Amino acid sequence: MNLILLGAPGAGKGTQGALLAERLGIPKLATGDVLREAVRAGTELGLMARKFLDAGELVPDEVILGIVREALTAPATERGVIFDGVVRTEPQAEGLNTILRGMGRTLDAVILIEVDEETLVRRISGRRSCAECGAVYNVYFEPPRAEGVCDVCGGALVTRTDDAEATVRRRLEVYRASTAPLIDYYQASAVPLIRVDGNRPVDEVQNDLLGRLTN
Ligand code: AP5
Repeated sequence: MNLILLGAPGAGKGTQGALLAERLGIPKLATGDVLREAVRAGTELGLMARKFLDAGELVPDEVILGIVREALTAPATERGVIFDGVVRTEPQAEGLNTILRGMGRTLDAVILIEVDEETLVRRISGRRSCAECGAVYNVYFEPPRAEGVCDVCGGALVTRTDDAEATVRRRLEVYRASTAPLIDYYQASAVPLIRVDGNRPVDEVQNDLLGRLTN
């Protein structure tokens, strides 16, 4: 099952994507995670991507499609992929269609997680991630058992550099200008668009989502 998770920064794409990947037994491809890991490792991709991430701007489409193309060569993706935060522009949407078609695969659904702007800002300001294993917490909604320490591996919890207030404002503007138009794009396509109210607790959103996917 190939699924796209669409939604504004902080909507819960990563959170819901990780749960869906576990429950459906298919891998998740989060381009944001791939890019942050490349920045951390200081690779050529990371050096190029850093300025876009720090500014809250989108990384060029051809770079993103290159990441997708490479990820889809892994045998584990044959049963499907949860695309978390990819696609974000119409050229990316067209590019993904072409890549999947070329591999004899299809896109099964696009899931739109809708969240009020006030909640988005609060979620992002409370987000902390483990510097070691990448587990995500929220000081307001999903706190770790011990402050500043990852429940999973004991690593230190850090704030993402692009979660600074001015960068978040820009990421929200970029979402509205470049990514939100994909809602109409998919609405007009043959691929089902599933709208989910993401303002609810994590488990409630997940159960709703799973129910909608299996019915
Ligand atoms: P990316 O890492 O994808 O960031 P984003 O889209 O801005 O999304 P976020 O990770 O901020 O939020 P999320 O929706 O995953 O929410 P989360 O589950 O973490 O991309 C970063 C950058 O990389 C981009 O700005 C761009 O530069 C580049 N990039 C990536 N992909 C690209 C592409 N395709 N094209 C071009 N550039 C690209 O949840 C947020 C917080 O809320 C967490 O603390 C979580 O614990 C909490 N939370 C989640 N759900 C709930 C809930 N239901 N109730 C209470 N709290 C909740």
